[in-house]
Amino acid sequence: MGYERQADFGTPEVRSDTQVTLEIDGRAVTVPAGTTVMRAAAVAGGSIPKLCATDNLKQFGSCRLCLVEIDGMRGTPASCTTPVTEGMKVHTQTEKLARLRRGVMELYISDHPLDCLTCSANNDCELQDQAAAVGLRDVRYGYEGAHHLAAPTDASNPYFDFDATKCIVCSRCVRACDEVQGTLALTVEGRGFGSQISAGVKSDDFLSSECVSCGACVQACPTSALMEKAVTEIGKPERAVVTTCAYCGVGCTFRAEMRGEQLVRMVPWKDGKANRGHSCVKGRFAWGYAQHQDRILKPMVRESIDQPWRAVSWEEALGFAASRFKAIAATHGNNALGGIVSSRCTNEEGFLVQKLVRAGFGTNNVDTCARVCHSPTGYGLKTTFGTSAGTQDFDSVEESDVILVIGANPTDGHPVFGSRMKKRLRQGAKLIVIDPRRTDLVRSPHVEADYHLPLRPGTNVAVLSALAHVIVTEGLVNEAFVRERCDWDEFQHWAEFVSQERNSPEFLEPVTGVRADLVRGAARLYATGGNGAIYYGLGVTEHSQGSSTVMAIANLAMATGNIGRRGVGVNPLRGQNNVQGACDMGSFPHELSGYRHVSDAATRALFEAEWGVKIDPEPGLRIPNMLDAATDGLFKGLYIQGEDILQSDPDTKHVAAGLAAMDCVIVHDLFLNETANYAHVFLPGSSFLEKDGTFTNAERRIQPVRKVMEPLNGYQDWEVTQELARALGLDWNYTHPSQIMDEIARLTPSFAGVNYARLDAEGSLQWPVNDAAPDGSPIMHVDGFVRGKGKFVVTDYVPTDERTGPRFPLLLTTGRILSQYNVGAQTRRTENSVWHAEDLLEIHPTDAENRGIKSGDWVRLASRSGETTLRATVTDRVAPGVVYTTFHHPATQANVVTTDYSDWATNCPEYKVTAVQITPSNGPSEWQEDYAAQARQARRIAGSAMEPAE
Ligand code: FES
Repeated sequence: MGYERQADFGTPEVRSDTQVTLEIDGRAVTVPAGTTVMRAAAVAGGSIPKLCATDNLKQFGSCRLCLVEIDGMRGTPASCTTPVTEGMKVHTQTEKLARLRRGVMELYISDHPLDCLTCSANNDCELQDQAAAVGLRDVRYGYEGAHHLAAPTDASNPYFDFDATKCIVCSRCVRACDEVQGTLALTVEGRGFGSQISAGVKSDDFLSSECVSCGACVQACPTSALMEKAVTEIGKPERAVVTTCAYCGVGCTFRAEMRGEQLVRMVPWKDGKANRGHSCVKGRFAWGYAQHQDRILKPMVRESIDQPWRAVSWEEALGFAASRFKAIAATHGNNALGGIVSSRCTNEEGFLVQKLVRAGFGTNNVDTCARVCHSPTGYGLKTTFGTSAGTQDFDSVEESDVILVIGANPTDGHPVFGSRMKKRLRQGAKLIVIDPRRTDLVRSPHVEADYHLPLRPGTNVAVLSALAHVIVTEGLVNEAFVRERCDWDEFQHWAEFVSQERNSPEFLEPVTGVRADLVRGAARLYATGGNGAIYYGLGVTEHSQGSSTVMAIANLAMATGNIGRRGVGVNPLRGQNNVQGACDMGSFPHELSGYRHVSDAATRALFEAEWGVKIDPEPGLRIPNMLDAATDGLFKGLYIQGEDILQSDPDTKHVAAGLAAMDCVIVHDLFLNETANYAHVFLPGSSFLEKDGTFTNAERRIQPVRKVMEPLNGYQDWEVTQELARALGLDWNYTHPSQIMDEIARLTPSFAGVNYARLDAEGSLQWPVNDAAPDGSPIMHVDGFVRGKGKFVVTDYVPTDERTGPRFPLLLTTGRILSQYNVGAQTRRTENSVWHAEDLLEIHPTDAENRGIKSGDWVRLASRSGETTLRATVTDRVAPGVVYTTFHHPATQANVVTTDYSDWATNCPEYKVTAVQITPSNGPSEWQEDYAAQARQARRIAGSAMEPAE
C-alpha cells in the first residue's frame, strides 16, 4: 500500500441492534443507535473538521472545531458529542460554520509555531490538514500566544520526543494514556493559555515518569509534539505494509511504515482484531534488533565445536549439514536425528521443519519450545474440553464480570491485552489474582484486586482444590450446566473428592500460605459474580503439576458453568508470538498437525499419501529425552530453528552436556546465540519483517505476516529449510508460503477453510475454520464440548520434590518484565535495556535483613543445580521466604539454578519452584566472567561472517 494515514472516524464504533436513519448534507445514512453525528458523517463519506476527537478515544468535545447545524436544534452543537436521532437533518458545510471553524482554528494556530516546512511532520500532520480544511490562511492575533516556545524538548525517552512548543493541549495524549493504556501517566497542568501536558507529578520527564512507552500518546497526537525519533532521523515514511508483531502471543497487527528499505516506525493498526489499535513498548518500538549489527548473514561451519567458525557459501553449509546428517543416520539409525520447531517462526516454517524431520529424517523426534511453556495447556485442555487451546477471543473480556488471573502477569507479559483487561476492571469487573508476587494488576491506577491470594510457589493445585471445595460444599455449583454439558458421573466423583476436609481452605492454609477467608471469598465471587473468566500463564504450567493445574482450572470453569459463551472461559496467555501455531502444526513428537496422535492409522495414511513416505506410528523423543539420549551416546544430530535451548531450557549444565555429545548441531537463527556455542553449522535466519507467512495468537487467530523488506541473508526461513531438505534428497518445490498453507489446510481439519486469499480479505481467521465453522470460531464449546461431554478430572495436590531445607531455605520463582522479552535476544539489542539492563533478584525486607543485604548489593543465588550472581532489590512485592527474578540476560542465566523436575504429563520444566539460598557476594561468579570473555570472543569471530549476502 502507499502511505496514506489510516481512516479516522472521529468517535468509537457503537454496536447496537437498533438502526437509525438520518440525513447529512442531503444524503441519507443509516447507523447504529448511539453513533455520533461525526461518525455518521464519516460513514456517509463526508468529513467534519476535528482536533480533539479520534476514534479510539471517548468523545471529549473540547476543541469546538466540529460544530454542525441541525434542523430544529438551537446553536451549533459539536458533532463529536451529539448522538444521531431518527430523521435528524444535519448540515456540515455552511457559511456560518466555516466562519466559526476558521475562528477556532485561528486561536489554535496562534498558539503553535509556524514552522511547517521544517517540521518532520510536514504533510503528515492533522493540525496542518485541518487548518487547510477550514481554509485558514492568516492569523490576526500574531503568534504571541505560542507561550511554550522557550520550553526545551523532552528527549529523555529513547524512542520519542515531546516538543511542548508544538502542543495544542488537545488532551488526546492524556486520554490515550488513561483510556487505552490505563497507566494514567500524563496530566494537563495549569489553565487556559498556561496549560501544558506533563508526564506525571512526581517526575521531570517522560523517562522518569510512570510512562510505559506503549506509544498510545504518540499515536494520538495530532501535531508533531509527540513524535518518534526515527521519523526525525530517517525521514517521513513513503510506504506501509500491514503485518503481525513477532513478540508475545497477543499478536498485535501493525503498519510497518518504510522509507526505502528502512523501517521508520511500527504503527498499531486499528483494524487488528487482537490489539484494536493498541501496542506495547516492544512491538511499537523495539524492532531495531532486526537490523542489528549482531545479525549473522552468512552461513558458517566448523568440524568440531572447539574450532573457530568458517564463513562459507549456502551451498557448502547445506552440503556439510546434509552429509553429516546422512552419515549419522547410516551409522546410528534415523532415530539418532531430530529437530526443534521455533515458536518465533511462522506456521508455514514450523510445518516444514516437522515435515523435514518426519519425511526427511524418518523419525518423530521433533519438539518445540512449548515443551518448556504451554505443553500442559495442550494436555490439560485436550483432556477436559477436547481442544488444546484457549476458549475465547480477546474481545470476550469486555463482557466479563469476574476476572480470575492465576500465574500470569499480563501487564508485563501480555501488555496490550493487560490494558484491555484493566479497562474492563475500571468499568467495574471484579478481580481475583492468584500469584506469589504482588504484580501490577494487584494494585495499579484505578485497579485493585478484590482478592489477592499470595500462595507459596508450587501450591497452585492446593489453592484450586480449596476454591473447588468452597464451590461444591457451599452449593455454588451450576448443576443445570454440569448435568447438560458434562459427564455427570465424573463430576460426582470429582465433587466427592474436593468436598473432603483435606481440601478445605482451612486445612490447606498451612500448605498454601493463603488465608482461608480469602480463598472462601474468592470462590464465592468467582461462582456467583456473573460471567467468570480465567486467564493463566506460565505460573500455572511450569510446575511438576502443570497439567493438573490446567485441568483443575477447567474443572472450576465447568462446575460454575463459565464456559461456552462470551465473557467467560479458560484462557491461556501464550508466551511466544506463534507458540499456539507451532503446537497446531504438529511439532510435538506424538502428534501430527491438528493434534492428531501419530498412532492413528487413518491420520498417518493421509500424510503418507501426501508426502509419499511412511510415518513411524511410535511417538518420538521430547527435547529433554533427546538430550538424555545424547549423553547416552544414542542421539547425534539436531536441527534447531529459532530457539536458544541452552538459555531457555532448564538445568543449563545438562543441556550443554547433551549438545556437546552430538556429532552435528545445526543452529538456524538470527544471532549467534548461546546454543550456537555447541553447533557445527550456523544457518542465518530472517526476521519477521523479511518473510511472508502466518502466526497464530493465543486466541487461535491466524494472522498474516507480510514481507516488509528483502531478507538480509538472501532467504526466508522456509526457503532455508527447503534447501536443507533438497540437500538431503527431498524433492520440495514450494515457491510461496501460501502453497505450504494450502498443504496444511488439506491435511488439517481445523484449518480446512484457511487460505491466503481469505486471510487477505478478512484480516484474520480463528480456527477451527471448516465446513462446521465456515467463519471461524471466536468462542469454543458453545453448544457442547469438542470432546462431547466435559470431563472432570480429579487433581490431587502432590507437593513437588523440590523442597526447602536448611541449605536452601527460600523458594525462587521467575517471570518477565515489560521491556524485555524471553531470553532477551531481541530486546537486549534495542534501547529497551534502558529500563532493564540486568536481571535483578527481588527479596523481601525480612529475608534481606537476615542476610545483611541491601538493594543494589551483589548476591549469590545458589540451588542444588548451580549458582549465579546478580544484584538484589529489596521489596515487599514478594512474600517472606520467596525470591523472584527475570531470565532475560545471558550474563545471569537464571536457568543454571533451576532443576530438572518437570510436569508429570508433559515434561514441562518446573521453572517456577526452586529451593535456593541467597548470600552476599562480591560480584559476578567465575563462570559469568568466563561467559563475558567468551561472548567477546564469539563477537570477534562472528565479525568476519557479518557482511551482507551477495
Ligand atoms: Fe469535536 Fe473537538 S472534535 S469538539
